[in-house]
Amino acid sequence: MVKVTYVAHDGTQTAIEADEGDSVMHAAVANDIDGIVGECGGSMMCATCHCYVDEAWEERVGGRADGEEDMLEGAASEVTERSRLSCQIKLTGDLDGLVVHLPEDQI
Ligand code: FES
Repeated sequence: MVKVTYVAHDGTQTAIEADEGDSVMHAAVANDIDGIVGECGGSMMCATCHCYVDEAWEERVGGRADGEEDMLEGAASEVTERSRLSCQIKLTGDLDGLVVHLPEDQI
């Protein structure tokens, strides 16, 4: 299992355990995390799974997928260099303990 902590816009933290291979978006939806919608189901067509990777995890999470940058342009909240589509972050053992921050709005 991989531990992921979601930090809501108001600072509330929720930690969950997800399966390796799951995405940060899917793990959030499966655990009723407010702030991640995942409208398109993870096919990189919506940007309602926008998150900000915690600074300490940026390197381990790695860069954006092909096309992710374009889709992020449609995100409802400010896009920063730490912005990612959480459906494109697959959980591996290396990401155990991952922290992501959630934007104010997804829609
Ligand atoms: S769930 Fe739609 S782009 Fe990530």
